Amino acid sequence: MTGKLQWVESLITKFGGQHILVVGDLMLDRYIYGTVSRISPEAPVPVVRVMDEKNMPGGAANVARNIQALGGCAQLCGVVGQDPLGQELLAVLARDGITTTGVMQLPGMRTTVKTRIIAERQQVVRVDWEDQVKLPVESLRVLCRESAAAVRRSTGVIIADYAKGAIRQELVAAILSAAKRHRIPVALDPNQNTVLKVQGITVATPNRKEAFSLARVPEQTPKDNPLKDEALARVAGILMKQWGPSFLVITLGAQGMLLASRSGGRVHIPTVAREVFDVSGAGDTVIAALLLAVAAGASEKEAAELATCAAGVVVGKIGTAVCAGRELMAFYQVLVKTGMNVVRRS
Ligand SMILES: Nc1ncnc2c1ncn2[C@@H]1O[C@H](COP(=O)(O)OP(=O)(O)OP(=O)(O)O)[C@@H](O)[C@H]1O
Ligand SMILES: [Mg+2]
Repeated sequence: MTGKLQWVESLITKFGGQHILVVGDLMLDRYIYGTVSRISPEAPVPVVRVMDEKNMPGGAANVARNIQALGGCAQLCGVVGQDPLGQELLAVLARDGITTTGVMQLPGMRTTVKTRIIAERQQVVRVDWEDQVKLPVESLRVLCRESAAAVRRSTGVIIADYAKGAIRQELVAAILSAAKRHRIPVALDPNQNTVLKVQGITVATPNRKEAFSLARVPEQTPKDNPLKDEALARVAGILMKQWGPSFLVITLGAQGMLLASRSGGRVHIPTVAREVFDVSGAGDTVIAALLLAVAAGASEKEAAELATCAAGVVVGKIGTAVCAGRELMAFYQVLVKTGMNVVRRS
């Protein structure tokens, strides 16, 4: 077991040498915290007196934040508006040490912003400002060129599609062709509303709902044991054929994840979360840890196991949290000490 711990430690240390390019829909997550002592005279709603506010990277920008927290170096490609909130997003990214030279500021576009108003720890309302990105032909050409150049400077790529319009087939094709030429692994977090040709991708990480939708199979109630879930096995088979990845990871929320390989083998990795407070953003943590591990030389199963541990850390925190490299190591140590075996094979 000590051997395994040492190996994991050396793998996490190698995260420091990884330059991961994240391409996708960028958003700003705003949190406004306050107190409530009265109901508005204008409408039956609480009046929130603002005490504090916080801006965080959201969408693909949150994937980059996860890379950085785990010890890797993240660079981003995508678009924001030429507006004050776009500027603010660039500022919070810079604060986290994320390289944003590949982020275009598009005139006429409104930066996607999701504002939560939280009073006494209760979310009162969420307000979204979002436009579908309509990239002019010339801007798309520039984004493809910049992204392909950034692929060459990276050791791994994540395409994070939140279906806001940044992820276009032309962009995916430019990324995949540059990555193939330079033998760089590429991971895709797909969205059920976008159909993409991604032949040559290393790994894709849909959640259960997205996997069924993208495989065009009506969603069915999950079975207690994902390895006995025939509908899920069918969906995994369809997506493996459709996308031709080296492997596929279907995240299953509280059930953990299913890893499907080219050999046809399936492995169930149950969650290792000790406490669950907030699952938002766990999918971003999974793809960040998974791709970092693959780029650092881990096998499919090792990478999925490590990603499950990173997800186990973040779901135990409040808010859209991240997992630091040293937290991941500490979590792994406890698992090994308690003799927990995290993998179930088909
Ligand atoms: N309720 C839960 N209990 C324990 N672990 C969880 C829970 N929800 C998520 N996880 C862990 O987080 C991983 C990713 O979660 P999930 O399947 O919800 O991804 P997702 O739907 O893509 O999330 P996101 O909302 O970030 O897009 C799971 O594989 C699991 O390890
Ligand atoms: Mg997700």
